[in-house]
Amino acid sequence: MLVKGAYLVLGNWKMHGDSNTSAMLAANIAARAVPPEKSNVSIGIAPCYVHLHPCRNVIFGDEILLGAQDCRAEPEGAYTGDVSAAMLKKQGCSFVIVGHSERRKWHGERNEHVRHKATGVLREGLHAVVCVGETLEERESGNHLQVVEAQLRASLPAQCTRDSLTVSYEPVWAIGTGRSASAEDIRQMHAHIRTILQQIAGAQDGALPRILYGGSVKANNALDILSLPVVDGVLVGGASLDAEAFQSIIQAAYTAAKPAAQ
Ligand code: PGA
Repeated sequence: MLVKGAYLVLGNWKMHGDSNTSAMLAANIAARAVPPEKSNVSIGIAPCYVHLHPCRNVIFGDEILLGAQDCRAEPEGAYTGDVSAAMLKKQGCSFVIVGHSERRKWHGERNEHVRHKATGVLREGLHAVVCVGETLEERESGNHLQVVEAQLRASLPAQCTRDSLTVSYEPVWAIGTGRSASAEDIRQMHAHIRTILQQIAGAQDGALPRILYGGSVKANNALDILSLPVVDGVLVGGASLDAEAFQSIIQAAYTAAKPAAQ
């Protein structure tokens, strides 16, 4: 299933929930989702691998996209504990998040791993959501623009288009901390990312990959963030586990995605 909406709202459920709570949450989101053809917003959820199947069973139709939080690039092989993009495709996934800072931190993933994974995702015809973002030390030292630029140049596959790939800017210091980046921080970084994407993808505005923001997006700041012209959507962690909070964030995207049929 394609990522169609001008705006994208993705929930990253990380290592939370069980089969029942995940399926209930997925059903709740699906029941209230407005198809992207009408709302201009695509909604996606990324549960744990083991909860993909129960979630898929409750989200028929095109309302919401199913995704995974990571993958292995090779389609199959002797890679104990790994799950390939090809397997995820068979499970009904449309997108895969790669390069999340928690993967970089806990699994030592570097930019070249991220690029390899993203390339594997694209090879399967799935949509790659590539995360980049600086640490607090990198921001405080004033190197944040260079750090993110280096991550992008080394993590993105050569062929990246709006249909195949999305970039998510997630400052590490904003993830799970309750402290989101300011509008000015987001404006500056997204403009920088856009310039680099123009160079890498060689495409102009309408064909450039979307740029999402992630890091402490909540019900009470989503509309402000989504209303920034440089923001094409949000990647939501903690608040996506709460049906009401995530619903408010989706509602904010419907409001921001003018002209919406709302
Ligand atoms: P958060 O997580 O919304 O809980 O800060 C965002 C993310 O990790 O993608």
